[in-house]
Amino acid sequence: MKNDPLTPYGNKPMVTPIVSAVNYQYTSFEVLRQITDGEIDGYTYHRDDNPTVRTVERKVAGLEGAEDCVIGTTGMAAATMTFLTFLQKGDHLITFHDIYGANYKVSLILEKFGVEITWLDAWNYEKVQDNMKKNTRMIFCETPSNPLIKVIDIEYLREQADRSGAMLVVDNTFATPYHQRPLQLGADLVIHSATKALGGHNDLMAGAIACSTKEQYDKLWFTRQAIGTTLDAFSASLLERGLKTFDLRARKMSENALRIAEFLKGHPKIKNVYYPGLETDPGHKIALKQMKNGFGGMLAFDAGETQEDAKTFVENLKIIIHAVSLGCTETLACLPVLTTMLYMPLERRTSFGVKLNTVRLSAGIENTQDLLDDLKQALDNV
Ligand SMILES: Cc1ncc(COP(=O)(O)O)c(C=O)c1O
Repeated sequence: MKNDPLTPYGNKPMVTPIVSAVNYQYTSFEVLRQITDGEIDGYTYHRDDNPTVRTVERKVAGLEGAEDCVIGTTGMAAATMTFLTFLQKGDHLITFHDIYGANYKVSLILEKFGVEITWLDAWNYEKVQDNMKKNTRMIFCETPSNPLIKVIDIEYLREQADRSGAMLVVDNTFATPYHQRPLQLGADLVIHSATKALGGHNDLMAGAIACSTKEQYDKLWFTRQAIGTTLDAFSASLLERGLKTFDLRARKMSENALRIAEFLKGHPKIKNVYYPGLETDPGHKIALKQMKNGFGGMLAFDAGETQEDAKTFVENLKIIIHAVSLGCTETLACLPVLTTMLYMPLERRTSFGVKLNTVRLSAGIENTQDLLDDLKQALDNV
C-alpha cells in the first residue's frame, strides 16, 4: 500500500480511479513471467484488461449472482462476442423475432459463417420443443422482450436446451437484475446492454456478459482480447457511478411503468397495452414466477388507429422524450417500426405483433403524476 501513489497512506479513494493507461511497466522480468503464466492477475495492455473495467465487471457479476463477468464496448458487442465464442459452422441457433433489432443484422453475419438459425415468436415459445435439433448449440432470448415485452419461461428453455446440450443465453436488459436473475433460473450466460438501466443516465455505452463458470469467462475474455472490444476506463467509471443508484432507479422505473400501464389500459384511444404487470397480460403468470420486486420499466401500447395517430401522440408529449434507448432517468417513447427495428424488412418488423402505431415506452424516475398528466394531454390531441 505504502508504494501505491493512489493510496499513499493506505486509505482507499471512494471512487475507483480511472486508469487511462494503455500499457503498464513491468517492474521486473519475474513479474512479466508471473503475469504470462497466470500466477498473478497483473495488467499489461488495455485490450487485455483494465483495473477500472475489472472493478465494474466484479460488481455486475455480483448483481447477477455470476461467477464473473466480461464487459465490452456495447450491448451488441456483448451479444456478438457470445455468438463468436460459442457457435461455429454447422451449429444451430434458436432465437426469437422478439429480440433487439440489431441482432438481426448480426444474424446475417452468422449465417455467412455457416450458422443455421431458427426464428420463433416469443408468444409461442413452446414451439422451441418442435424446433430442437441434434446440432442446436444455443438458445438465445430476451425476456421480457423488445419491443412487445413478451415473457418467456426461462426454466422451460433450460429443459429444452438440455435435450441437445445447448447453451441458454438470456438478454436481461429489459428485466434488469433487480427484477430477474436468469442464472438462478438455469441460464448459462446473461447479457446486458449496460448502456441502459445499469448505466442509467444516457451517457455511456457498454455491454456485459455475466458468466456462470470461470471457463466461460476465460473463453469470452479470449474473444474480447482478440477482437478488441474492451471498454474504455472512463465509461467503466460512469457505469460504476450508475450502479450506485441502480436499485433505487429500477424500483422507481418499475413503479412508474405499472401506473402508466394501468392508466393506458383504461384509455379509449389506446388499443393494446403490453406489460407483464397487468393481470390480463399473457406473460403475467410466468412473470410472477420468475420476476421479483415488480415487472420492470418497459411497456408498449398501440396508440390511436394509425401511425399518424401515434406520431401525433408522441409529438405532443411534453415531459416524456421522443428518443430511442431505455432504462434511464428520463421517460422515453419511440415507435419501434421507425427506429429500433428499422433494419429489418418491413414485413418482418410487423409479422409478430408489432404494429405501425405501436409505441414503446421506457419509464424513467420522474414524478408519477407528472407522467400521467403528460400522457393524458398528449392523448387528448389524438
Ligand atoms: C434488449 C437489448 N439488448 C441489446 C441491445 C444493444 O445494446 P447497445 O445499444 O448497448 O449495443 C439493446 C439496445 O437497445 C437492447 O434493447
